Amino acid sequence: MKFFIDTANLDDIKQAYDLGVLDGVTTNPSLMAKEGITGDANVKAHYKAICDIVDNNVSAEVIATDFAGMVKEGEELAKIDDKIVVKVPMIKDGIKAIKYFSDKGIRTNCTLVFSAGQALLAAKAGASYVSPFIGRLDDISHDGLTLIEQIVQIYDNYGYETEVLAASVRHTMHLVQCAEIGADVVTCPLKVITSLLNHPLTDSGLAAFLADHKKASQK
Ligand code: G3P
Repeated sequence: MKFFIDTANLDDIKQAYDLGVLDGVTTNPSLMAKEGITGDANVKAHYKAICDIVDNNVSAEVIATDFAGMVKEGEELAKIDDKIVVKVPMIKDGIKAIKYFSDKGIRTNCTLVFSAGQALLAAKAGASYVSPFIGRLDDISHDGLTLIEQIVQIYDNYGYETEVLAASVRHTMHLVQCAEIGADVVTCPLKVITSLLNHPLTDSGLAAFLADHKKASQK
């Protein structure tokens, strides 16, 4: 399973990359705004800075919601770096834009997906990734993980190459359960990735090993 980090924060991206387990980055307009990145030139420079840290797969989202606007923006984003994946919202013109980009060999990530039907449409249009937001479904008392299960099954039934990118992953159990179900990718904040390290038995076990080693060395 690929690990993507869901942030536009360069320090967090560097930390995850330095851990040696990072396969990509997802951003969205809210995450860019959180870092105070505004204006076309600054946004593009920031995406370039992210691409310079990681090896591949940097999702950069279009702001336009009409076909022509999405195509123009997406083509400009794709020119920033080969690592860019154009992120397109799950709307009618978004599906048309995904088909257009797919025919041109530009990779896409279809975002804001909340149903299996939407995911099927994204795959038919040729999306490279589909992003179901599991945490946001959980927030409204729907089961986000069941949606991942459905999409994995549907894509498997027909051999769609679109990768299931579980997004809005909020905690380690989300991540582990996505792995059990067979999601291709998870994207989450740095804390979720680093929290995978934690286990009290690891801490107490290591403390005991080191104490025993110290005692034996002093004999
Ligand atoms: O990748 C989608 C993500 O940014 C949404 O996460 O936690 O705002 O629902 P969240």
